[in-house]
Amino acid sequence: MFAYSGLLPSRRIVLSTLLGAFTFGSNASGATPASPQQAAMAARLPGVPKPPGTVNGKLPERRGPEYPWGVALQDMEAMRPDVRVINLETAMTTHDKPWPDKGINYRCHPGNVATLKAGGVQVAGLANNHCLDWQIPGLMETLETLEGAGIMVAGAGRNASQACRPTVIQLPPAADGQPSRSAAAAAAADADTAPAGPEDVDGPRVLVWGLGHESSGVYDEWEAGEARPGVCMTDLSAAHAARVGAAAAAAKRPGSDIAVVSLHVGSNWGFTVPEAQRQFTRALIQGWIPRLYALTAWRALACPLPPSPSL
Ligand SMILES: *[C@@H]1O[C@H](CO)[C@@H](O)[C@H](O)[C@H]1NC(C)=O
Repeated sequence: MFAYSGLLPSRRIVLSTLLGAFTFGSNASGATPASPQQAAMAARLPGVPKPPGTVNGKLPERRGPEYPWGVALQDMEAMRPDVRVINLETAMTTHDKPWPDKGINYRCHPGNVATLKAGGVQVAGLANNHCLDWQIPGLMETLETLEGAGIMVAGAGRNASQACRPTVIQLPPAADGQPSRSAAAAAAADADTAPAGPEDVDGPRVLVWGLGHESSGVYDEWEAGEARPGVCMTDLSAAHAARVGAAAAAAKRPGSDIAVVSLHVGSNWGFTVPEAQRQFTRALIQGWIPRLYALTAWRALACPLPPSPSL
């Protein structure tokens, strides 16, 4: 979990990543049926964890939806975050046709969305290499599941404009009397590309974009198209960083809004951040994205960064 203090006084944003931790865990009904694919995969590959249901049967005890969080929930409460953003690295679906020849296909029963609610999750980033593990119907059900639970999605959608628009979280006006602008001037864009979220409430907002890069295992075919559900993809070019910066500059209200990018980039583990990734993240930060978290390395990696621009 990564926690950053926000730039605004008393604003805290908790950013965390949640992946197969409960993908292989119990489903909503308490049983854990392994798909034939999971069972076959477990049989084929040494070291691949077997779905618990195939080994030990049902969990001996039913647990509440908060259970998978463990002590993280208390820690999060203690931080009193204004915003909780996760990278949800699994599909939430019962669809059973895996993306072919992928090897690792994460799936979480839609009923487990109660666990995300129990953690107070407001935004789920889906620009990663597992949201389409159960093909387009699996992504569509994931979107419906999250939306149905009142959790906003960043980085994937029913088409490119939905996948690439920022998700907006309205914060309550700052306690210190910080002036907030009217939102009337904002979001003049058409409804399609306009940020998702409340539009005409005063007060600071957090805008979250999700971006996936092929270095983290997101397939090119997963890129959302004009009429194709998928992921908002990025390359690591200066031009793309500039486009993201321009979109952020256009959507943000200067002085009050906070921009966050959930960037899924890089391979698992490893010790270094390749130069291209450094340059891209620096370019984002020097643009309009002073809060950025990059995922998938599974360990903290040092990457010298320039000072953030003042908002
Ligand atoms: C993209 O998807 C959204 C949500 O389904 C829809 O409202 C919008 O019209 C779509 N845009 C295009 C260009 O198809």
